[in-house]
Amino acid sequence: KILILDFGSQVTQLIARRVREAHVYCEVHPCDVTSDWVREFAADGRLKGVILSGSHASVYEVDDRAPDAVFELGIPVLGICYGMQTMAQQLGGKVEGSNSREFGYAEVRAHGHTKLLEGIEDFSTPQGHGMLKVWMSHGDKVTQMPEGFKIMASTPSCPIAGMADEARRYYAVQFHPEVTHTVQGAAMLNRFVRDICGASPDWIMGDYIEEAVARIREQVGNEEVILGLSGGVDSSVAAALIHRAIGDQLTCVFVDHGLLRLNEGDMVMDMFEGKLHAKVVRVDASDLFLGELVGVSEPEQKRKIIGRLFVDVFKAEASKLKAANAGSQGASFLAQGTIYPDVIESGGAKSKKAVTIKSHHNVGGLPEQLGLKLLEPLRDLFKDEVRELGVALGLPREMVYRHPFPGPGLGVRILGEVKKEYADLLRRADAIFIEELRNWIDEATGKSWYDLTSQAFTVFLPVKSVGVMGDGRTYDYVVALRAVQTSDFMTADWAELPYGLLKKTSGRIINEVRGINRVTYDVSSKPPATIEWE
Ligand code: XMP
Repeated sequence: KILILDFGSQVTQLIARRVREAHVYCEVHPCDVTSDWVREFAADGRLKGVILSGSHASVYEVDDRAPDAVFELGIPVLGICYGMQTMAQQLGGKVEGSNSREFGYAEVRAHGHTKLLEGIEDFSTPQGHGMLKVWMSHGDKVTQMPEGFKIMASTPSCPIAGMADEARRYYAVQFHPEVTHTVQGAAMLNRFVRDICGASPDWIMGDYIEEAVARIREQVGNEEVILGLSGGVDSSVAAALIHRAIGDQLTCVFVDHGLLRLNEGDMVMDMFEGKLHAKVVRVDASDLFLGELVGVSEPEQKRKIIGRLFVDVFKAEASKLKAANAGSQGASFLAQGTIYPDVIESGGAKSKKAVTIKSHHNVGGLPEQLGLKLLEPLRDLFKDEVRELGVALGLPREMVYRHPFPGPGLGVRILGEVKKEYADLLRRADAIFIEELRNWIDEATGKSWYDLTSQAFTVFLPVKSVGVMGDGRTYDYVVALRAVQTSDFMTADWAELPYGLLKKTSGRIINEVRGINRVTYDVSSKPPATIEWE
């Protein structure tokens, strides 16, 4: 196993992710664990190496240092950014401060052969120097290496961008190998954990389940947990994982706000109650939601109403459950499918200096209001890891690889005022679009267009246009198809769907969904448009 000591960088979890990708088991712990703790952690003989992360601060602002035991165990250590600086200082070198810090692209020259960088390069100069394309944290830098170290990498502005003491197997880099902008970063971390530390690549998602199950059992004990199941990927995987750990101590509450996709409610119940045998309370609150939305057409106001009602309904269910279980304490934990990108986005990256952690947008503030403790077993995982975990837990691939669906559901896909009639038309049109995307296979890649797009859906436009059907004139509603490709949902391109796919989808919607006589395709990218229309 590998120990990652976290000095508070926003990207520490990326180091863990890269190590997991190398199939090596690792744990992230705060940098201020004691030397005794480190020795205890290593006592089973499985600890093969330590990685010291970067920090958001400078060595001059904070005095965080690695516990001395790290350098007494005789195992390899890799320092990254701040981790390099603290390694240099702790072993007798010098670090020079600077007021300016920036994070940016740099080309780094690799010096001589070190086991960490040997054979790893992006290009070579005419003089034959191996060069690496990296993301560098400029600012403080090591100006004098500790005894025993030699230069491993340099740039003109940072002569000691990497250093190594190969006898002791200590390596350090000023740049960030864990971010994808460092082209060979994954190769370097792989080299460190597998070849230098000799950690065995035997870690798989199945092991993660066992560890997570053990952690959940320990955290929860014999108390009860409730979870808001939305049918989305994250809450579904969290539910399956927690159910695996504590079975009937978990109650899922599935709020149907009447703005879900076609048959979604039944599918969720079938999966969780039918197949997994989890306790699921289905609350049909569609009348309540649709009732409160009458006459409301402003998008933000709609979102607020849906969000507030969701919290109200969930709270009411939670107290009902408590009353029904008179005698027992009722739930004391609220489980959420918060994943690592949510944690970063809300500025609460896990670190010993963790700032306030904002909860998931759909149930923000709930744990405090309900007086519940939070259980967030997916906090350290990235989306694709959550999906892998879902599959390993036995959830159907189709569910786990679904496009994201916003909390307010069709509420933000029906422009203006929401009506049941509109929602019913939209659900049917959308189901046809999704079915066609799944059926349409791209020859070049062998993938369906559903898998080739990041998010695709149908939007209901409450305007009528004239058409002709058979011998008659129609005067019906319009829908827009939306399909985008994106890696982070912050920017997105509209997908160049095959004309044949658009043609078939449009034909089917107009013929099969009476009430819609026109289909348009949205060719706007984000920015300046957003992915959702509201
Ligand atoms: P926009 O429309 O802002 O959407 O480009 C970016 C991504 O966020 C999703 N989205 C939401 N997800 N609750 C959610 O859980 C929301 O209120 C919400 N609003 C937008 C959207 O579907 C897209 O994937």
